[in-house]
Amino acid sequence: NSTEIARCRLAQLRSGDGVSVPSAAGPIAIFEVEGEILAVQDTCTHEDASLADGFLDGHVIECPLHGGQFDIRSGLPVCLPAQLPLRRFETRSDGEFVYITT
Ligand code: FES
Repeated sequence: NSTEIARCRLAQLRSGDGVSVPSAAGPIAIFEVEGEILAVQDTCTHEDASLADGFLDGHVIECPLHGGQFDIRSGLPVCLPAQLPLRRFETRSDGEFVYITT
């Protein structure tokens, strides 16, 4: 029983960049990695930075502000100064839109 809280167009993800979308749960960063669509909270758990503006290397997103890193499959921090995990969100796509659900 999942509730849609945000969506974006699949085409927006195709550039390889993260997309930040607003939601009732705060901004969400959506990425496409090797055909898999992954969504995590967009705001870094260290300070106030948008991870959608960060640098993606495989499944690891590097925060643009201080270089903290997270695995976006698990949300877990993998490099300081990031220490607290990111909230993850479920995604599904109908081929046109990506839907973020809780
Ligand atoms: Fe992301 Fe500091 S705000 S590592």
